[in-house]
Amino acid sequence: MTHPDQPALWPATLTIEEGRWQLGGHLLTDLAEEFGTPSYLLDVDGLRERARHYRNAFTEAFGPGTEVYYAGKAFLSMAVARWVHEAGLRIDTASLGELTTALAAGVAGADIGLHGNNKSDAELELALQSGVGRIVIDSLAEIDRVQELASRHGRTAGVMVRITTGVHAGGHDFIATAHEDQKFGLSLAGGAAAQALERIAACDHLQLLGLHSHIGSQILDPAGFAEAAKALLQLRAEHAERTGHLLAELDLGGGYGIAYLPQDQEVDVAALAADLARTCRQECRRLATPMPEFSFEPGRSIIGPSMLTLYRVGTVKPVPLEDGRTRWYVSVDGGMSDNIRPALYGADYHAALVSRPATAEPVLARVVGKHCESGDIVVHQVQLPGDIRPGDLLAVPATGAYGRSMASQYNLVPRPGVVAVAADGAREIVRRETIEDILALDLG
Ligand code: LLP
Repeated sequence: MTHPDQPALWPATLTIEEGRWQLGGHLLTDLAEEFGTPSYLLDVDGLRERARHYRNAFTEAFGPGTEVYYAGKAFLSMAVARWVHEAGLRIDTASLGELTTALAAGVAGADIGLHGNNKSDAELELALQSGVGRIVIDSLAEIDRVQELASRHGRTAGVMVRITTGVHAGGHDFIATAHEDQKFGLSLAGGAAAQALERIAACDHLQLLGLHSHIGSQILDPAGFAEAAKALLQLRAEHAERTGHLLAELDLGGGYGIAYLPQDQEVDVAALAADLARTCRQECRRLATPMPEFSFEPGRSIIGPSMLTLYRVGTVKPVPLEDGRTRWYVSVDGGMSDNIRPALYGADYHAALVSRPATAEPVLARVVGKHCESGDIVVHQVQLPGDIRPGDLLAVPATGAYGRSMASQYNLVPRPGVVAVAADGAREIVRRETIEDILALDLG
């Protein structure tokens, strides 16, 4: 068995032997036969391993008491919640759906966090009833709401405050989240952060656990994390000086970048965590405050590389380019409804022929979907064998994060299922939608 050329790009248990692509020991051709296409294939052992790796990396660097929350927005199902929880991670949720799913998976409320810049009463009430470990406060108005609801339920809510540190980082403006002019968090510079801490201290049903920062997503340069951590440590020290209360915990969010293309490097989380911990220790010494406990919220880097999407080729069309070359438009049976990221962020992906050995000379290809717009692109540019033809199977790696979770029914195309693949078998953990599902929502 040999690993593909770019192990960081493909799920951990993916192997290729004489053109036979396997995941967890199952031929991709067999999985396509059994579960249909398009399908998201989830490498269960790979996912568990990544979850453990992240937990170990942060715990080793920051010490015992460090917690890693899996950001369920990247992709959440009951099975995934259970697997990452078994691997020692807690679950970060950001909606009623995510919170309900984590609870339904059997994760204890104490091991769940709730985020959101516009939480509904239903979300807050479920959080309070189920005793979630922390609610991350995102606005001044929310403080009074949570206090009121908590007192009505006779509870004390553990809360953190999401701080806008002013650090701008991330792969795309829409996924950078800590610069000033956007909707998340309470501004450090503008004084709202300090005001929030003061107001929470006066609430008898709120317990202030600490400060939170999430600077963005798909971040490859670690500098932003260090900058944000320093800003939080400084705020914590100032708060302690003012009130005598030293906050116990800092959450530095998620955002760790992964490989999408063969030439990409993913973040080395062990190195990043070690550097970040060193920075935090130095800063704490400078501020003469003891180290807090730390937590983190990776989503993409846990689930992204653990999944791939399997498509079947339907149409192949040569299109002449102005420069004399030909671009082969390879249409597959999904597209922007199962992966909106290329259309939304200009995100680049890779694709490979996985149903037979690739022997023909490669050609310039663009993998496109079946939807009614020209921006319906799966892979902007990739070399595929020149004899690529209808019936071939293509795999697109690194689609686990924000793929199924942002999927739509555009053109009333049912959303693909998620198939969990492990050595002892493969099964759907999220069922493929059917036309009947779509019609069931249509009240005529
Ligand atoms: N914590 C908070 C508070 C977040 O807002 C997010 C992501 C995460 C953790 C997890 O970040 P990750 O480790 O997955 O980068 N749909 C976009 C990404 C949006 C990220 C939103 N927040 C995309 O497809 O690139």
